[in-house]
Amino acid sequence: MSEPAPAATEPRTLAPPERRVAVVSGVERIGAYHVITAHDVSGPTNPRPGQFYMLSTDECWGGAGDERPYLPRAFSYARARVEPDGVAVSFLLEAVGPGTERLAALRPDEGLALVGPLGIGFRAPPDGLRPILVGGGIGAAPLLCLQEELEQTTLLLGFRSAAHAQAAALFSGEPQVVTDDGSVGRQALVTELLAAELNAGPGGTVLACGPPAMLEAIRALCAERDVPAQLALESGMACGFGACFGCVVPTTDGYVRLCLDGPVVDAHRLETALFAGAGH
Ligand SMILES: Cc1cc2nc3c(=O)[nH]c(=O)nc-3n(C[C@H](O)[C@H](O)[C@H](O)COP(=O)(O)OP(=O)(O)OC[C@H]3O[C@@H](n4cnc5c(N)ncnc54)[C@H](O)[C@@H]3O)c2cc1C
Ligand code: FES
Repeated sequence: MSEPAPAATEPRTLAPPERRVAVVSGVERIGAYHVITAHDVSGPTNPRPGQFYMLSTDECWGGAGDERPYLPRAFSYARARVEPDGVAVSFLLEAVGPGTERLAALRPDEGLALVGPLGIGFRAPPDGLRPILVGGGIGAAPLLCLQEELEQTTLLLGFRSAAHAQAAALFSGEPQVVTDDGSVGRQALVTELLAAELNAGPGGTVLACGPPAMLEAIRALCAERDVPAQLALESGMACGFGACFGCVVPTTDGYVRLCLDGPVVDAHRLETALFAGAGH
């Protein structure tokens, strides 16, 4: 008789092996961002915070004239609400190019094509360690569902401007917010808030998502203080499920595909050169 399979320890919910179409139920403008919610009847109802979906619109997604989108784009899910006949999945996105602009133009009842959830999400913080969630810009997206799942978190958010900082209102409690231009909170980098938090006392663990320069600063701050950190990284993703090798990043165990072995990675596994030269 064969041995029973070991219990899964990774925060990874497996995706059905196919593209499916969810029906858009809402598109909301939150300052500089958009929240797209779609009703997914056949996908898993339990994605893990930090996992992502490959998204495209069901119609008008490239293939003719100058419709550039073509490949789906990667997005962390921000929230998932179980409903009687499926799950309402929400994404927070910033329109920065043709794919995100097309997604932001979706309207209720249109189709959102998705594959997911994909990758490995955030692991539960070790017992006794206070979770410190750190988000930079659109990196706030996966922290929304993460905050819902964890208790007694400290939440630190940094945004470019007041329009971007409106996303802070999506969180519960009272996040500490700073902006690049000082229009909301202090004019500071979110890593300054983190340094103050870590200097105030031991017993924390950091879970972060944001631009490369922010993640590199967090990696360095946590390494200096021996604080465990999990970082949700980004990389160009063409497929999202391990086939194209377009998303590899160097780690102390060699190159890994971020769509399979990430996007959440333990900071101590990262080569310090990973973010060298990253500027935001
Ligand atoms: C795992 C993962 C999760 C993500 N989650 C979110 C999310 O929740 N919300 C959100 O708005 N965006 C998220 N992104 C980024 C999103 O995938 C890109 O913004 C999108 O692909 C841009 O497509 P576009 O056609 O609009 O712009 P493009 O024309 O493709 O790019 C516009 C600009 O963004 C840069 N860019 C494009 N893709 C990436 C990327 N993956 N990483 C870094 N820079 C990039 C380009 O260099 C260019 O400067 C995520 C990316 C990954 C890999
Ligand atoms: S995105 Fe294709 S292998 Fe990771």
